[in-house]
Amino acid sequence: MMKLPLFLLLISLVTQTSLSEVTISVTPTILQKSGDIVTISWSNVDSPSKLDWLGLYSPPDSPHDHFIGYKFLSSSPSWKSGSGSISLPITNLRSNYSFRIFHWTESEINPKLHDHDHNPLPGTAHLLAESDVVVFEPGHGPEQIHLAYTDVEDEMRVMFVVGDGEERSVKWGERDGEWSRVSVARVVRYEREDMCDAPANGSIGWRDPGWIHDGVMKDLKKGVRYYYQVGSDSKGWSTTQSFVSRNGDSDETIAFLFGDMGTSTPYATFIRTQDESIATMKWILRDIEAIGDKHAFISHIGDISYARGYSWLWDHFFTQVEPVASKVPYHVCIGNHEYDWPLQPWKPDWAYAVYGTDGGGECGVPYSLKFNMPGNSSESTGTRAPATRNLYYSFDTGGCTFCVHIN
Ligand SMILES: *[C@@H]1O[C@H](CO)[C@@H](O)[C@H](O)[C@H]1NC(C)=O
Ligand SMILES: *[C@@H]1O[C@H](CO)[C@@H](O)[C@H](O)[C@H]1NC(C)=O
Ligand SMILES: *[C@@H]1O[C@H](CO)[C@@H](O)[C@H](O)[C@H]1NC(C)=O
Repeated sequence: MMKLPLFLLLISLVTQTSLSEVTISVTPTILQKSGDIVTISWSNVDSPSKLDWLGLYSPPDSPHDHFIGYKFLSSSPSWKSGSGSISLPITNLRSNYSFRIFHWTESEINPKLHDHDHNPLPGTAHLLAESDVVVFEPGHGPEQIHLAYTDVEDEMRVMFVVGDGEERSVKWGERDGEWSRVSVARVVRYEREDMCDAPANGSIGWRDPGWIHDGVMKDLKKGVRYYYQVGSDSKGWSTTQSFVSRNGDSDETIAFLFGDMGTSTPYATFIRTQDESIATMKWILRDIEAIGDKHAFISHIGDISYARGYSWLWDHFFTQVEPVASKVPYHVCIGNHEYDWPLQPWKPDWAYAVYGTDGGGECGVPYSLKFNMPGNSSESTGTRAPATRNLYYSFDTGGCTFCVHIN
């Protein structure tokens, strides 16, 4: 009889201690696609500081200072009470996520550790809590779908990313669900050793880029809307996408021409990201919907993602442009922020005086593999990395010839 009360007393002591500990929870813990929203909630933060922060980590065992990005807890209206919540969309990096909260105060700011706009990078000395793991459930098909012309007028290329190298295909037809043709995609990837310098080849900037698939839809009729899906029976298919094929007989050309876009992230990270890109994509999408069954294309003249060696920013970029790039061919041209690095063997002759480190050690490798433009331009990287591609090309559309070359 004496043992029971002692046992209860112990339980109540343990409960009391854990009540004063900081808690963090995340819901949902299973996501399907990039852009799915998670809500991270916390409570019991003692003497909250306006610099206390939430870090996003992927993979979940990353060191504290190797976050993907961060948000201050003070962005939650109730932060002063020691509890609050933050909701944000998550990009599928083909790897799990976890969330950590840290205490950080102004007296702990290290002026030597700052981002590229001279904002101090958050301090990691006081971890308060770490969440459960968030998983992207398999079976929902490829992501980052984007179209491009090939050198053949009655073809359309489609590229996409998945987390494994297994065979994927594109199937297409003139009606949704009636797939008259199917074609197996070619697959490529690059490795950390292909990056030429930091941050791209370092453990802060590098994340596994996944497998890049490249399929071609052939024998397309002129100016017809085609429906397509990418993926495989065993690993899942994308939702149905559609585009209007090229029409060499038409005398009308609809093109969206712009440069320098970048990408936006719902958090701060090591370099500045470009919120302006949200409006650019929104208006282009509106116009593409308004032109209905007419063919159009995009020419985005470098700089493209402004990832500059922080590889997950490429994933953000392709996720952000997918609603447009899965409907009309998305053409690009290389810029200094994809390419420049002093040790490269090939530099445009006009560039010597201004050559710097703008590419963040990528040396054109992600750009050359994540896109596949018409033509066969190719320059050796002088390293083990695959050649630099998509430097210049031309194509005909609606009675016009477009020539694209290095920016
Ligand atoms: C992601 O988390 C799930 C559940 O904890 C685990 O089964 C899986 O192996 C993890 N994936 C990776 C790539 O670590
Ligand atoms: C990154 O590349 C530079 C230049 O080639 C090299 O000196 C450095 O050791 C590389 N870093 C890693 C982590 O491989
Ligand atoms: C590129 O090379 C392929 C294969 O060698 C060839 O079929 C194609 O015509 C070439 N394209 C151009 C624009 O030169």
